[in-house]
Amino acid sequence: MMTKEQVYEALRRVKDPELKRDVVDLGMVREVEISDAHVSVTLALTTLACPLKEQIVADVKQAILSLDGVQEVEVKLTEMTDEEKQRLFGGASREGRAEHLNRITHVVAVMSGKGGVGKSLVSGLLAVILRRKGYRVGILDADITGPSIPKMFFSGEARPATSPVALVPPKSRTGIAVMSINLLLEREDQAVIWRGPMISNAIRQFWGDVLWGTLDYLIVDLPPGTSDASLTVMQSLPMSGVVLVTSPQGLAGMVVRKAAQMAQRLNIPILGLVENMSYFVCPDTGKRHEIFGPSHAEETASKLGVPFLGRLPIDPEITRLCDEGRIEDYPAEAFIPVAERIVELAPSARPPVFPGS
Ligand SMILES: Nc1ncnc2c1ncn2[C@@H]1O[C@H](COP(=O)(O)OP(=O)(O)OP(=O)(O)O)[C@@H](O)[C@H]1O
Ligand SMILES: [Mg+2]
Repeated sequence: MMTKEQVYEALRRVKDPELKRDVVDLGMVREVEISDAHVSVTLALTTLACPLKEQIVADVKQAILSLDGVQEVEVKLTEMTDEEKQRLFGGASREGRAEHLNRITHVVAVMSGKGGVGKSLVSGLLAVILRRKGYRVGILDADITGPSIPKMFFSGEARPATSPVALVPPKSRTGIAVMSINLLLEREDQAVIWRGPMISNAIRQFWGDVLWGTLDYLIVDLPPGTSDASLTVMQSLPMSGVVLVTSPQGLAGMVVRKAAQMAQRLNIPILGLVENMSYFVCPDTGKRHEIFGPSHAEETASKLGVPFLGRLPIDPEITRLCDEGRIEDYPAEAFIPVAERIVELAPSARPPVFPGS
């Protein structure tokens, strides 16, 4: 009959690949239960977003299976509390977090009431143009269940690098730092089915545990609507302001008002309104066609009392480049004045309402 001591002894052979210390010593082993040939272990990781999770789990299983009489091993995962992390890494936990090392001047979120109007495209193009102008830029993909930013910027595999306390975002071809749940998943098409609090935690970690370094602009791509994710971003990040995106289709103008109300209620400045898919320029005749009907964007902006920032045409070229991970090759002429307006309007970031705990 095997004992818990034997299991602990076996686990001492498993090292955290990053911290280079064994999991027992690191205080990661929480519970060991033995019933006949079945062993169940609970492991507390420094972060559940740990990219080396699978490896640690596999090593733990293998170590225990090597004991005589073990037939089955179950590994349950949990996350260390902030105090435990603090003890592990030394220093106050906030000091130990990447957040403390980051210097981010402006945080601009892109929002809409309605899905599919082009928030992610506007986030991507804003980052691209600001980068071309020489600013240091990052994009935080706050759309946890439908992330679409990495695909625009990377054609192959991109992964964050890790340090004991932080994830280091990969950089795009022109040097834009990108963080998205997609960069942590095994497969890009893996579905994320999480409840609100987990989504909020992931977003806070993308702020607090990502080593963004020094950025002039961090662009935050929000999911559609006024969900938990939008609320978390607006309440826990030091927002400079939000950019609203709408399209000329049916109700888009009406729903953008709900998004605007949310920002106003939370006292976040609205930098202005962008209309996407406004028109199509026929390549044969050069004539402009308003495919989704006439624009109401200026009217909507003036009703909301926010600046109208400009229009973007429907352009099949942009869809193609985004699908190929080459958004940075898009000239984006129509978007340059929009980005310039945003630079003029974005004030300095305000202090966080509650620091990314
Ligand atoms: N101006 C445009 N011209 C051509 N295609 C566009 C344009 N704007 C967006 N698209 C395409 O429409 C699709 C939806 O755009 P995008 O993902 O940016 O919208 P979204 O508002 O972020 O959507 P979601 O609400 O799902 O997050 C994408 O395939 C994108 O490439
Ligand atoms: Mg999107």
